[in-house]
Amino acid sequence: MTQPAIYSRVIGTGSYLPPRRVSNQQLAEELAARQVETSDEWIVARTGIKARYFAPPDMTTSDLAVEAARKALDMAGVDAQAVDLIILATSTPDFVFPSTACLVQSKLGITNGCAAFDVQAVCSGFVYALATADNFIRSGAYRNVLVIGAETFSRILDFNDRTTCVLFGDGAGAVLLSASSEPGVLSTALHADGRYADILCVPGNVHGGAIQGNAFLYMDGQAVFKLAVGVLEKVALEALDKAGLEASQIDWLIPHQANIRIMLSTARKLHLPTEKMIVTVDEHGNTSAASIPLALDVAVRDGRIQRGQRVMLEGVGGGFTWGAALLRM
Ligand code: UT7
Repeated sequence: MTQPAIYSRVIGTGSYLPPRRVSNQQLAEELAARQVETSDEWIVARTGIKARYFAPPDMTTSDLAVEAARKALDMAGVDAQAVDLIILATSTPDFVFPSTACLVQSKLGITNGCAAFDVQAVCSGFVYALATADNFIRSGAYRNVLVIGAETFSRILDFNDRTTCVLFGDGAGAVLLSASSEPGVLSTALHADGRYADILCVPGNVHGGAIQGNAFLYMDGQAVFKLAVGVLEKVALEALDKAGLEASQIDWLIPHQANIRIMLSTARKLHLPTEKMIVTVDEHGNTSAASIPLALDVAVRDGRIQRGQRVMLEGVGGGFTWGAALLRM
């Protein structure tokens, strides 16, 4: 007798932003004190960002992740002890090791010995983590997977570099992905091209007890911009093709929230009206691996995203990495 197929489905979402909201105007004033010149007008016109959130020094990526995870578990009505895998996407882990996922397991009070690991794919990290979770569930290995994107990018920003420090923020988003008899994750597509590793990187490491190289984020903004607009269209079409669907059948598009110009261009190329795109980059800035689950949770909780609707998630970032996940909620 053939076994019924196992699918994976999002049954809860959650997110968390640290308490300090910093508007462009406030940031411009703080930067002026360092003789770094920027303005609200420049940041809004070039990126669509109006504000971002920064975590206080004693708040780590795992702290943000735990808050988002708790909310996702609450919405799902699933006890933390029923989680059997935690996958956490981050480029700003609490430590070199152990993984931030292990710290989250402990802070959530999970004592069932569930597996926990981090995924490193920078701003594509959440889509990579979700695709990994989906495969583990469909193989029958796990039933309840916490998939988290969490970042404290403020820790790796050089506040003397106006080309990057105005773009990023801190935050976390999470989903509980669970085994289901109905398809939830309809398709995923992941890609990387390591030849572009140096256009977006933190080219430093720990060596002999000291930091070797540069521990600040470096980005060639224009190179990233050009690559991003090309791959975001292609990978969305690839995920649609795998699911046997057309772009017009997408209810909501959630691209990585880095720059409104890249997001609008992606929607345009897919012939999707901009009203179908969830935008949080204005309020959150670029929160890297957290940006997609943060936007997803905002739109689930404000009632825009409804059960049964199709949602296209798209990540792009350092590595160079990119990917898409098409969901039926
Ligand atoms: O999360 C991973 C994905 N990352 C991204 O998607 C980022 C992709 N790239 C971008 O979003 C854009 O390239 C940026 C927003 C980073 C930059 O926008 P741009 O339109 O490419 O600007 P630009 O780098 O060409 O700079 C234009 C001007 C320059 O001045 P000059 O040389 O024309 O005199 C910059 O020095 O803007 C200047 N500039 C600024 N001015 C005020 C750069 N940063 C700032 C700033 N405030 N913060």
